[in-house]
Amino acid sequence: MNVKTTLDFLNMKETRDKITMITAYDYPSAKQVEQAGADMILVGDSLGMVVLGYDSTIKVTIDDMLHHAKAASRGAPDTFIVVDMPFMSYHISTEETLSNARLLYQASGAQALKLEGATDKTLQAIKALTDAGIPVVAHIGLTPQSVNVLGGFKVQGKDVESAKRLIKDATRLEEAGAIAVVLEGIPKRLSEEITQTIHIPTIGIGAGIHCDGQVLVYHDIIQYGADTFPKFVKNYASVDQPIKEGLKQFVSEVKSSQFPTDTHSYHSEQLEAYFEHK
Ligand code: KIV
Ligand code: NA
Repeated sequence: MNVKTTLDFLNMKETRDKITMITAYDYPSAKQVEQAGADMILVGDSLGMVVLGYDSTIKVTIDDMLHHAKAASRGAPDTFIVVDMPFMSYHISTEETLSNARLLYQASGAQALKLEGATDKTLQAIKALTDAGIPVVAHIGLTPQSVNVLGGFKVQGKDVESAKRLIKDATRLEEAGAIAVVLEGIPKRLSEEITQTIHIPTIGIGAGIHCDGQVLVYHDIIQYGADTFPKFVKNYASVDQPIKEGLKQFVSEVKSSQFPTDTHSYHSEQLEAYFEHK
């Protein structure tokens, strides 16, 4: 199968063929997501919370992103991969933004990078990256890198004033060259409006049914390593319990000398004969 392109995603919006995106942070998960037939993989900076154990995405570094993006891209060579630019990696100067972007994009082999927000700084960064030939996915609404400015993980755009601002932001992001926009944590009526207003695909998470596509975190979909989830998550599987049971069984069988059995051991007839007659 060929990796889809930004044009394919524009066509999918046109033909109302829903775009599916799932996060993956390493080789086996990326492999599974590709085999599941998702259109895009997001190596999200949510990895800071989901697999590194931080309480927000703020501590995630370029090196963290690179490490995981390289592993994920080895697992999904046929899938369009988007990598998050982490906290403060695109705010200091265009020069620094470009050198960070170059590192993430070139070394990971990803197809696009994702940036949060629609401030002048972010719009400038999106233009600079697009100019350099790097496709950019935008991300507005609940933008976790700004959690402390927003005052918590809260739904955004609930009143007419802030909704209008988000519609304008989406338009500006499209004009700056973004190839798609992630809409996170906003009312479904607002994401419907944004989806109708702009020409690039919207990919929702906690943004309702009207988006051109949907994204969820891998660990949330399969309920892996967490037991509380935001309202917008649906668990499609529950792997935590079977994993813990398997691990417990190993511990117990080693303790009781039930493992390893002969079938899990190597044999040498020569050695067996030698040591028997010694
Ligand atoms: O990092 C991430 O997983 C994301 C999604 C929530 C869109 O940015
Ligand atoms: Na993210």
